[in-house]
Amino acid sequence: MLGNFTFCNPTRLYFGKDALSGLDKELPKYGKNVLLVYGGGSVKKNGIYDKVVEILKKNGKEIFEDAGVMPNPTVEKLYEGIERAKKAEADLILAVGGGSVCDYAKAVSASVHCKEDPWDKYFIRFEDVDNEVIPVGCVLTMVGTGSEMNGGSVITNYAQKLKIGHVFGDNVFPKFSVLNPEFTFTVPQYQMVAGFFDIMSHILEQYFSGTDDNTSDYISEGLMRSLIKSSLTAVKNPEDYEARSNIMWTATWALNTLVAMGKETDWEVHMIGQAIGAYTNATHGMTLSSVSLAYYRLIMPYGLERFKRFAVNVWGVDAKNKTDKEVAEEGLREMEKWMVSLGLVMKISDLGVTSDMFDGIVNSTLINTGGYKVLSKEDVLTILKESM
Ligand code: NZQ
Ligand code: ZN
Repeated sequence: MLGNFTFCNPTRLYFGKDALSGLDKELPKYGKNVLLVYGGGSVKKNGIYDKVVEILKKNGKEIFEDAGVMPNPTVEKLYEGIERAKKAEADLILAVGGGSVCDYAKAVSASVHCKEDPWDKYFIRFEDVDNEVIPVGCVLTMVGTGSEMNGGSVITNYAQKLKIGHVFGDNVFPKFSVLNPEFTFTVPQYQMVAGFFDIMSHILEQYFSGTDDNTSDYISEGLMRSLIKSSLTAVKNPEDYEARSNIMWTATWALNTLVAMGKETDWEVHMIGQAIGAYTNATHGMTLSSVSLAYYRLIMPYGLERFKRFAVNVWGVDAKNKTDKEVAEEGLREMEKWMVSLGLVMKISDLGVTSDMFDGIVNSTLINTGGYKVLSKEDVLTILKESM
């Protein structure tokens, strides 16, 4: 039975080749001071930075820069960003980049007026924001996380060996996001395919939960089928606009809360992947691809019906004259073939994980209860060993 829920997504999207002109509509809504946040410099190389700065100037904005947001943004960078936003007296935080830049902007937004240590409050105690926030807008340049239309923010604390995501409430969702698929054409292939798997993983984390008949799961199946088709096109021709735009749109819907409605959801692959990230600083999507098959093979017997449905409805497996288990296993084999053809990392050893990290990764893995099996520490260790 569909659970009870409240649905609200307050982010306005501007999508397509002309999406950046959306800034002209949005910028007049905010004060003069804009904190322009970006990463390691890709936006300067591909010209997106210049385009954004021109529009900001045309709209009479004073620009304060906060550059150098790293993939997997750190808590130290967050503290620096808070100081920059305060000094700028920022009226708007404009994130130009991938999920890391968008996540960071949201964390700064919620933390500037926070009276306590934001790491402890949001990422350890998972408390709600109870202070003023600075509005955030995003110009997305890398597809995968869904950060452009959600309240999520993932911050890494290497000293504590923790990479933790906090889901902020509606008021921290980006007020607007600019999605131009062409802005993603310069993303390196490794990052591009990691983003593709991140999308798949987000859908699976929500799909592999519950046994009821829920419209959200039918939407998920459609999103996965579109992703599989377009990713196979994009991996051969990264400048195929149709494929890249479909993937961009799928990524947004995969994690803008819609397909979680009425569901408990799992997120255990992300918990293991984030623990690996805290030890290796590896690319997020690859931390997921390298553990997913071991995880799903381990939990499959506890959610066999759903795995069978996944095989048939998503991968087109013919169920005739086969046991449920055979069908379910074939579905996962089809997913494995797709992953290999994209060129994803399939082993955690390829991300720098060594066996002496196992205990630490197991201890840094948060255990969720919404999936088909609540993992024990031994289960996490088994998954790590199987994924080497
Ligand atoms: O830093 P720059 O120079 O911009 O380079 C980036 C970075 O090296 C590069 N890049 C981005 N756009 C580009 C480009 N290079 C060339 N051309 C472009 N157009 O790509 C690299 C990766 O960028 P990053 O933002 O780190 O990637 P992604 O979008 O995958 O974000 C990953 C972060 O998001 C978190 C992850 O944990 C990770 O920290 N997540 C956020 C979620 C959310 N908010 O809901 C959910 C996800 O599950 C995920 O956990
Ligand atoms: Zn993810």
